Amino acid sequence: MVCLGNICRSPLAEGILQSKLSKDFYIDSAGTAGYHVGELPDERSIKVARFYSIDISNQRSRKFVLQDFDIFDYIYVMDASNYQDIINFARNEDDKSKVHFILEENQNVPDPYYGGENGFENVYKMLDIACNRISEEL
Ligand code: 4NP
Repeated sequence: MVCLGNICRSPLAEGILQSKLSKDFYIDSAGTAGYHVGELPDERSIKVARFYSIDISNQRSRKFVLQDFDIFDYIYVMDASNYQDIINFARNEDDKSKVHFILEENQNVPDPYYGGENGFENVYKMLDIACNRISEEL
C-alpha cells in the first residue's frame, strides 16, 4: 500500500486489508516521500481505524524502496501522483506490472491530510470497499 507520506491513507489501507486476510498474507505500506519516516500514523487515521476496531498504532512510516518490488506481488497506490512516482522508480516491466491503483477505474483516494475529520471517514469507507474486492481477488 503506497501513498505520499505513509501516515494517512496507506496505513489505513494496510490495516484494513490485513483485517480481511489471514496472517499468511504479508501486507505493508510505504510512502513515496520521506517527510514522516519513523512517525506513527496520523492521529486521525488511528482514530477512524479504532472506531472500526482496527489498530494501526503499531505502524511506523517508511519510504518505498526498490526491494519492495522484489518482496511484494502487488503494489497498490492511492492516486495518480503515487502511480507516476512508483512507475518512474521501477527497474523493468516486471516491476511496473505489479503497480495498480487501489480503486477501480484508476480513481484517486483523496489526500485527507489538510482536510477535516470526515475526510478520514470518507477515505476509510473507500478503502474498505476496495479491500473487500482485493481480498476476494487474492
Ligand atoms: P498520506 O497523506 O500521503 O495519505 O500519508 C499525507 C501526509 C503528509 C503529507 C502529505 C500527504 N505532507 O505533505 O506532509
